[in-house]
Amino acid sequence: MSSQKIRIALTKGRLEKQTVALFETIGFNCAQLNSKGRRLILPMDDYEVVLAKPADVLTYVEHGACDVGVVGKDTILEMGGTHYEMLDLGFGRCRFALAGPKGVDFFHGFHERVVATKYPNVAKHFFERKGMDVRIVKIEGSVELAPLLAFAHAIVDIVETGGTLRENGLEVIEEIAPISARVIVNKASMKLRRAAIEELLNNMRLAAQVTG
Ligand code: PRP
Repeated sequence: MSSQKIRIALTKGRLEKQTVALFETIGFNCAQLNSKGRRLILPMDDYEVVLAKPADVLTYVEHGACDVGVVGKDTILEMGGTHYEMLDLGFGRCRFALAGPKGVDFFHGFHERVVATKYPNVAKHFFERKGMDVRIVKIEGSVELAPLLAFAHAIVDIVETGGTLRENGLEVIEEIAPISARVIVNKASMKLRRAAIEELLNNMRLAAQVTG
């Protein structure tokens, strides 16, 4: 059995605060995490916590650089990959949606449709399921801009409050998938360090129930 600490990859940014709050609910000492400065690896009780961008959390867990990860279902749906998805933490709730200019029937007519998105794989699978041939263009941020500039007919993006769509004259055309924070585990770690990981997952599950 490895004496190395279990390493947990946390998604920086939107999910970070709620994940740390969850660890505090469990009773873990998050002092280092709360005053991290520019440090990227932080000790937390018997664990080592790593802070990374969403896609990197998936990469590190898939390749065993980290045993456990907390990441949004949006990243999991977009990137796929090999890991166990063990737990829905219930926070970071939002949804993937197809959205476009208010009052315009996206599905009407036979012209080529252009869809802008930060999530080309999610968009591709959505339109494949519908049997629709659509040109998907990858955009890096503020995707809502694309239909406003008449660059795209619609977007596939995350909708949380719906505020960004509303303030830009756009609306949801169709919901695609619900999103929330998930706990993923490296496949080999799950075999080799099962007891320790199950204990962590149980603690996270109970704390998520309390805070949720
Ligand atoms: C996300 C998403 C939408 C917005 C949705 O963008 O891409 O633009 O949040 O949230 P709302 O429904 O509450 O308005 P993010 O803030 O991550 O920035 P980005 O567009 O620059 O990627």
